[in-house]
Amino acid sequence: MFLTVLTTLNGMGDLARLLKESWSLVEEHQDKVAGYFYARIFLSYPDLRELFPVHMDVQRTRLLNAIVTAVQTLEDPEKFDDYLRGLGRDHRKFHVEPEHYEVVGGALIEAMRAFAGEQWGVEYDQAWADAYAVIASKMLAGADADPNPPYWYAEVTAHERRAKDIAVFTVLPMQPLEFRAGQYLSVECSKYQPRLWRTYSPANAPRRDNTLEFHVRAVGAGWVSSALVRRLQVGDMIKVAAPMGTMTLDRRSTRDAVFVAGGTGLAPIKSLLEELTRYNRTRWVHVFFGAKTREDLYDLADLNRLAARYPWLSVVTACSDDPTFPGEQGDISDVVARYGPWQEHDFFVSGSGKMVKSTLKKLAELQVPSVRIKYDSFTEI
Ligand SMILES: Cc1cc2nc3c(=O)[nH]c(=O)nc-3n(C[C@H](O)[C@H](O)[C@H](O)COP(=O)(O)OP(=O)(O)OC[C@H]3O[C@@H](n4cnc5c(N)ncnc54)[C@H](O)[C@@H]3O)c2cc1C
Ligand code: HEM
Repeated sequence: MFLTVLTTLNGMGDLARLLKESWSLVEEHQDKVAGYFYARIFLSYPDLRELFPVHMDVQRTRLLNAIVTAVQTLEDPEKFDDYLRGLGRDHRKFHVEPEHYEVVGGALIEAMRAFAGEQWGVEYDQAWADAYAVIASKMLAGADADPNPPYWYAEVTAHERRAKDIAVFTVLPMQPLEFRAGQYLSVECSKYQPRLWRTYSPANAPRRDNTLEFHVRAVGAGWVSSALVRRLQVGDMIKVAAPMGTMTLDRRSTRDAVFVAGGTGLAPIKSLLEELTRYNRTRWVHVFFGAKTREDLYDLADLNRLAARYPWLSVVTACSDDPTFPGEQGDISDVVARYGPWQEHDFFVSGSGKMVKSTLKKLAELQVPSVRIKYDSFTEI
C-alpha cells in the first residue's frame, strides 16, 4: 500500500490536482472546517482535548492548516522526508500516539466533506486518505526511530531580569541533553502555560554540567514569553524538547566570521561564541549587537568581558532609538554595512523577522554570497 501510494505521488499530476481541486471547495470556510475538525476529534475522543492548549482560539486553524499544507506540498515526498520525520519525532512532546493519526486523518476528511457540499466525490476522499497516509507514515517512522525522550524536565536554577521585558535564566535538565551550539530547543513553561510550546535558543555551547542558559524577551501579548520573563522562578520545572536548527559552526571553515544579533537574537550568537572560545586561535570574529535602546543591550557587560579576554573578538553595538547612546546609531543592518568589506566572511544572523530580513537584504547588496550566510529568524520573514 505504502509503495503504491509513493509511486502515485511521484507520478503526482492527478493526485495534486485532486487535492487542490477539493481544497478549493472548502478553502473559504477554513475557520468553520477547523471548528468541525476539532469538534469531531474531541467528541469522539474526549481524551485528545488534553493534548491541546487551554486556549485554542489563536491557533484554531493551526493544526488543520499544517496538515493541509503538508499534504498539498507533498509533490516530492523525498524532499520532505527529513522535515516530516522531524515533525513526527517532535510530535511526541504533545503526547501524540500512533493511533491518533487515524483519528485526525478521518476527522480532516469528514470536516472537508461536510463543508464541500455536493461537489465532493469519492475520488477526493481517496486522494486525501492516500496523501495523509504517506505523511503520517513518515512522521511515525521519525517518531519510532528517535532514541531520545520526547522531552526533558529541567529545573530553573537562576532567573534574572536584565531589562523591563528581558530575562536571562538557567535551567538544569534532569537527563543529559545533546545539542550543537547555535541550535534552538522547544520549551514548555509547564506551570504557567501548559501545552504551549515555543522555540528558544540556548545562549551557551554544550557544557559539562549540562546547564542551559536562555535569553527571553516578553513580546506584546505573548503567552509563553511573558510567563518565562515575568512569572518563572528558581525551583520551577520547565520542559525542553528536540534540538533543531542548522545555524551551527563549520569547524573546517578558516574564514573570519561576522555575527549579527538583534535583541535576544544574541542568544544563539553567544552559544556560537562560547564554542569558538574553546578552539579558535586563527579566525577574526566580529559581533554586531543592536537593539532599540541601551537598556535592551542587556548582555553587553558579558560581551565586553569576552572581547577583553579574546584578542580575535571585536564587538560593535548600536541603538536605533536612543539618540544619546555612545555607540553606533541606526539599525544594525545599516551599521554592519558601514564596516567591511565582507565578501570573504562567514555570516550568522539572528533576531526578529524584520531585523533578519533587512540584514539579508543589506548583505545581498554588499555581494556576500548567500551560501556563506546562516540565519535564524524569531518571527516570519
Ligand atoms: C528558531 C527560533 C529561535 C528563537 N529563539 C528565541 C530566543 O532565544 N529568545 C527569545 O526571546 N525568543 C526566541 N524566539 C521567539 C519565540 O519562539 C516566541 O515566538 C516568542 O517568545 C513569542 O512567543 P509567545 O508565546 O510569547 O507569543 P505568542 O503568544 O506566540 O504571540 C503573541 C503575539 O506576539 C507576536 N509575536 C510573536 N513573536 C514575536 C516577536 N519575536 N516579536 C514581536 N512580536 C511577536 C505574535 O505575532 C502574536 O501577535 C525564537 C523563535 C524561533 C523561530
Ligand atoms: C499528517 C499529520 C500531521 C501533521 C502534518 C501535523 C503538523 C503539525 C504542525 C506543523 C504543528 C505545529 C508545530 C509547532 O508549532 O511546533 C502541529 C501541532 C500540533 N499537532 Fe500535529 N500534525 C499531524 C498530526 C497530528 C496528530 C495525529 C495529532 C494528535 C492529536 C496532532 C497533534 C498536534 C498538537 C497537540 C499540536 C500542538 C497544538 C497546536 O499547535 O495547536 N498532530 N502539528
